[in-house]
Parts: sequence; C-alpha cells; structure tokens
Amino acid sequence: MMLPVNKIFLQGLTLAVALSGHLAPEASAQITTVTVDTRAGKAISPDLVGIFFEDLSYAADGGLYAELIQNRSFEYQVTERPAWNSLTGWEFVQRGEGNGRIAVDEAMPVHPNNPHYIRLEIGKPGEGVGVVNAGFDGISVQAGAKYDLSIFARLLYLGNRWGSHPAGAMPLIVRLESKDGAILGETSFEVADFEWKRLSAAFTASRTDSSARLVVLAKAKGGLALDEISLFPQKTFHNHPNGLRPDLAQVIADLKPKFMRFPGGCLVHGNGIGNIYRWKDTIGPVEQRRGQANLWGYHQSVGLGYFEYFQFCEDIGAKPLPVQSAGVSCQNSDGKGDSGQQPMPMEQLPAYIQDVLDLIEYANGPVTSTWGARRAAAGHPEPFHLQYIGIGNEDKITPAFKERFRMIFEAVKAKHPEITIVGTVGPGSEGEDYDNGWKIADELKVSVVDEHYYQPFQWFWDNLQRYDTYDRNKSKVYVGEWAARGGAKDRNTLQSAIAEAAYLTSLERSADVVLLASYAPLLANRLHTNWSPDLIYFNNTGVFPSINYSVQQLFSVNSGDAWLPTKVDNIGKPVEFAASTVRDSKSGDLIIKLVNGAGTAKPLHIELAGAKNLPASATKIVLAGNDANVVNEDGRPPAVQPRESSLVVAPAFDCEVPANSLTVIRIKPEPTR
Ligand code: AHR
Repeated sequence: MMLPVNKIFLQGLTLAVALSGHLAPEASAQITTVTVDTRAGKAISPDLVGIFFEDLSYAADGGLYAELIQNRSFEYQVTERPAWNSLTGWEFVQRGEGNGRIAVDEAMPVHPNNPHYIRLEIGKPGEGVGVVNAGFDGISVQAGAKYDLSIFARLLYLGNRWGSHPAGAMPLIVRLESKDGAILGETSFEVADFEWKRLSAAFTASRTDSSARLVVLAKAKGGLALDEISLFPQKTFHNHPNGLRPDLAQVIADLKPKFMRFPGGCLVHGNGIGNIYRWKDTIGPVEQRRGQANLWGYHQSVGLGYFEYFQFCEDIGAKPLPVQSAGVSCQNSDGKGDSGQQPMPMEQLPAYIQDVLDLIEYANGPVTSTWGARRAAAGHPEPFHLQYIGIGNEDKITPAFKERFRMIFEAVKAKHPEITIVGTVGPGSEGEDYDNGWKIADELKVSVVDEHYYQPFQWFWDNLQRYDTYDRNKSKVYVGEWAARGGAKDRNTLQSAIAEAAYLTSLERSADVVLLASYAPLLANRLHTNWSPDLIYFNNTGVFPSINYSVQQLFSVNSGDAWLPTKVDNIGKPVEFAASTVRDSKSGDLIIKLVNGAGTAKPLHIELAGAKNLPASATKIVLAGNDANVVNEDGRPPAVQPRESSLVVAPAFDCEVPANSLTVIRIKPEPTR
C-alpha cells in the first residue's frame, strides 16, 4: 500500500510525519525545516543495531581467530579446494645434510574428529628434518610479545611392528624464523613417548616481523608423528586462551553491537546436508573438534566455535543470536543455484532437533545439566543468557523446508517458550520465498522473521517507507543481512554508506516492528575476499573499518528506546534527505540523525517542539565527503572520518548539513532543578 506522504498511521496513532524530504536542485539553497515533537514518542527496540558474523573471506581462521598456524591439524582436503591436501600450508625441509621423508597418516590419530597427522622419518638428522609453516600469508609477530606454542607428538614404531624407536627420545627444535632464516625465538623438547603427548612452550619474539615462519625440526635419527601444531599470541582479546585477535575484536567491540548473529549465513545450512554446521563439533578441546569444508571455498577449523562465540558476545555486551539450519542445506548446494536444497532424512530429524534443544541447554542450562556441565567444563559455569535462536538462513521455502522448520520450531517452542525463535523468509526483499516464508510465519506465529537484502544504494532511498505499513500484530522483523551493493566492483562508497544511513533512519522509525538489523558481511581478509562490500577489512597487521562501519557505529552508539515524531518539509522526488530522532531513556539524551544524500550542503531549521531543559550546546558528529563515489581498498577514503564538534542549540535553531553526509546531534538535557 502506498502511504500518503506526510501522514502515517501507526498502531492507531496518527502522526503528522514527513518521512523524508527533498530539495529540487534549483531549490537547494531553500531551508528545510525539521520539526521534532519531543513530547510524543513510541517505544522502539533498544537492540536495533547488531552484527552478523560469518566465516567467509577468512573471517575466522586467518582472521578473528588468533591462531597463527594455517592447517594446524593437517585436515585440509582436496574436497575443500582441488589443489589442497593435508600438507597444504606446510613445507617439508631437510636442513644441512639432513634427509628423511614425510607422510600423512590416519592410524591412531589424536582424536577421531581430527584424523590426519604427519609422520616424519629421519634417516640422517643433519641440521634438522621437519616442517615449516608460514601461517596465513606470513606469521605476524611483534618484538617482545609472547607466543604460546602447542604440539601433539609421539614417537613412531619403525621397522617391524614390534620394533621400538632406535634412538630413544627424539630431540625437537621449534623456532620462529624470519623469511631469510633469522631466528626470532626458539625452544626445544624431547619426544619420549609412543602415546600422543601435548608439548607446550612460550616464545618471546625478538623482533617485529610480518612474514615469520614456524619451523619444527627433528634432530635425531628415527621417527615421530606430529599433529595440532599451534601458535597463539598470549595477548588475545580479553586474554582468553584459544582467543581472538585483539585489534580486530576491539574494532568489532567498538561498534557496541546490541546482538551478534553467528556463525552465518550460508555457512549454517552448508553445502549439502553433510556440511551443515553442527555446533557440537565445535566445542571442547580444539584437537577434538571436527573441522570441515567451508562452503566459501576453504577450511573451517572451528577453533572459533560455539563456546568462543558465546564468550565473545559476552565480552562485547552483545546478545547472542545463534542460527541453526532448518534441517535443509543451502539451496545452492553443489552450485545448483536454486535447486540444490537437500533435506535431512526424516529419521535424522529427532536427533537433529535434540541438538538444537541441547544448544539452548549449553547456553543457559544449570551446571548440573548435561550440556550446562560442558559449558562449565569449558570455564563458564554462568549461563550465557541466550534469548534468541535463529532457525534457517534465507532458505528456499519448499515443502521439505516447511515440514522440517515446523518440527524444529514446535519442539523449541514447547521446551523453551522463553526463547525467541527467529524464522526466515528467503533471500530477498520480495518474491516467492519471501511470500511463502511470511505465510509460514503467519501460520505458526513465529515471533521474528529474518529478512535479507543486498540492493543498489538507490533502492534504500526508494524504500524508506518499507516498514511503515508492516502489520504490527504479526511477526516482528530482523533485517539479518543487508547492505547497499553495486557500483564499481561492489566496493564501499560514501554513496552507499549514506544510503544505508538514510535507511537506518527508517529502521529507527519502524523499530517497533523491526527489532534487529545487521549489516553483512562483517569481516573480510583483504587477500581473500569472497564478497564485497564488507564492513571491516583486515590483513595480518592492520584493521580497516569502512565508511559503512562508521554509519553502523554512529547509529549503534547513538541508539534510543523511543522514537520521536520527526517531520521534514520539502518532500519530493528523488528523495535525498532523511531524518530520525530517538530518546535514550537511560541518559535522557535526545539524538537527532540527519542524512543528506545530495551533492550540495543543505541549510536546515530545526524545531524541538516542547523541548525542556535544553543545554546551550550539543555534540555534533558529522561523517561527510565531497566525492560520494570514491572507492579504495580500505573501504574508506582517508579523509572521510566522523568529526565531532559542538553546536549551539535552542528550541529552534539553524544549522547546515554538508553534502553526502550523516550528522548526529546529541542533546543532553540540563538536570532539572
Ligand atoms: O553475507 C554473505 C551471504 O549472503 C550469506 O552467507 C548468505 O546468507 C547471503 O546470501
């Protein structure tokens, strides 16, 4: 239904509201009036802006997960990438006069979930026979920083099956080396057992190097098996063992996301049912986790697993929103476009549903429960306060999907009425799956549905009224994946960021029905980017938040729990201006967001109807740039940074917003006397 401009009807409340304004080019000097009614307001979701984490573009391994060794457990497989095998990432070396051989074996592994390991047989040790790992595009170490090394090792029986190791214990040297062979740190061990033993030591790097290698050298004649060779910086985010890269985690934390959806995306429902993400494979000691192919074309070690996800959510104050497959695989399984969805056989459903229920127990159950005890054993007896669970990810809405979704939905609802279930309505902003997904949501009365859309920037300007007409008595909405896409190489532009800002004003206005929204994707390793644009780029030494990041951050840190009627005059086409005002009841602050998508500055007259206790000045933060189309690989022209200043405010005041800009005005009322 088309809304009459200037008048919308929300929950029986008639508000004189202009949704957005426009200045025709010839009228660009004309003053636009923004009127905020500070006496009225409707309750909105305080959790609107969150994040969506998926392991694509090496977001986890080689990204947020701080492990420095690539293919640490020798589980890379040809099925993951044609050129890959267990030795990918490793180089066999025979130093000095050394000679020997390397093989991959599966007999007597460290754990059945981690079946492959290497055998080294050393005929002549020379200066060492062993393996070298250059991490993910080089190991980055800092002078003076400490690194924890961990290796599983055992001696091999050589000769006949009753034979014992000929040379007794095997000396092992482990070094951090620069590319040119300089030693940056060294430690040694003696492997003396025929059973797997974990060896550990700490290095201090003697100098900073962004392309170091880990070198493991056997120094005697004989044989040994090695697996799960791991190197971690001691400094991780919040200093957790098996933790996260602190610089990257901090940039995410600085978004102050209200929730975090994980672990995907398409990763959740997987490339075929055998590839569905199973949370139980991702907890416990890392050497016992079951890594698997990542449908984005690489390997997921699941070292960053469900415990670490929950812990990260807790660390950054984000509500966890784990997503489980709805018992079907991704419709694009095996590259079959829309027809590759594989349903889980019905006889497997009861066990699968139990897994979903067990996840809730893992997060929230008492330590006396089976899965609560597993959480406690991992070091977290307190619950993780799970409130949301997602079932399905933009699935094709087939009868098989519907049947399985219903079974999982009903089981969770029956056992855990306290959990809010987030359903799914397909991969687009409209269409068959969207319609059919909504039909299921209506029928089952699903609390929240997950909408996804990646659209050109103009779509967002054209759809600022999308949620104004959504029925407030039906399911609420989670905009689980959204971003302005398109333009040169799908790169981040100010134009897309400003369109997203405009759209966020509309989500704020409709945050009585849109409870949650997360830009997607969150992270991309610059050298391995599967998808563009992304919110935050990184390499081994740096983190590069995009312009779009600033927009998400400005809305997240300036969120509120009440939306105040915000009227803008001069509405026309094309729409190039949008505004929204919220109040944060904790601080009492009034926060106005003004978005100018025009290529010229806009003079404004702002009226704060009914405002009381106004201070003389307010904080103003402006994100703006002259060229809306500049693209670069950092996702942000260097000059386009949010700039803070102060602004004189009064019940009515004038100001100007620059071309291509988002302006946030935060007014802290004077205390009442
Ligand atoms: O965000 C990238 C991908 O986009 C997600 O994995 C999927 O859900 C969507 O198609």
